[in-house]
Amino acid sequence: MTRLEAVESLITDAQTIADVGCDHGLIAKYCALSGRFQTVIASDISEKCLNKARSALGGNERVRFAVCDGIGYDCDEAVIAGMGGYTVCDILTAADKNDRLPEILVLLPHRDADAVRRRLTELGYRIDKDFIVKERGKFYSAIRAKKGDAKPLSELQYLFGTEVDKYEPLLTEYLTGLQKIYEVAPKHNEEKLKLIRAALNAQGADRANNNKE
Ligand SMILES: C[S@@+](CC[C@H](N)C(=O)[O-])C[C@H]1O[C@@H](n2cnc3c(N)ncnc32)[C@H](O)[C@@H]1O
Repeated sequence: MTRLEAVESLITDAQTIADVGCDHGLIAKYCALSGRFQTVIASDISEKCLNKARSALGGNERVRFAVCDGIGYDCDEAVIAGMGGYTVCDILTAADKNDRLPEILVLLPHRDADAVRRRLTELGYRIDKDFIVKERGKFYSAIRAKKGDAKPLSELQYLFGTEVDKYEPLLTEYLTGLQKIYEVAPKHNEEKLKLIRAALNAQGADRANNNKE
């Protein structure tokens, strides 16, 4: 599954959806052409980046364009993809202060997804989908969260996703890769390795259980 396919599978049928940090506007384009949304907002902090989306989508009457930092407008659902987890957290914190947090968030950070899961929980969101995507050799977390009914996660869930206890070959591949990296300097990474092994054990245990059935 590509990142765009992950987004396609996670977005719901809200009235207004925003592609935050849209750059070339690939996600906004999918949303606009799908016909599933009344309004699609393509926004970016950089006018130069937004112009790429304007070129790809200008003329589509459903699409509005905005140069702004984060979620500087009202929307029902926001997709934030291709940014680091801490940038995503800053965007969510600012949106919370300005009362702009949407009901649904679809987030694909390329790193530090644990920080995103913690901030979502602090802001009162419940994560209802959480999986790994691999595109051109790089791993991304794909997370969907809905406002309300938040529940704290276990440390392993914050770190590796809410589905860490369910066997998923791609997650196992991701964890095995991480383990190899940290095993280069095991003494410096003792705590991290312990958590990775625990997650791999959880994957293995679920796989073993499923094989018994
Ligand atoms: C790597 S691109 C990702 C583009 C697209 N979302 C994707 O996933 O393919 C990151 C984009 O986020 C924009 N960006 C970074 N920080 C932002 C912020 N605080 N608010 C809005 N856009 C931001 C950048 O200008 C850039 O266009």
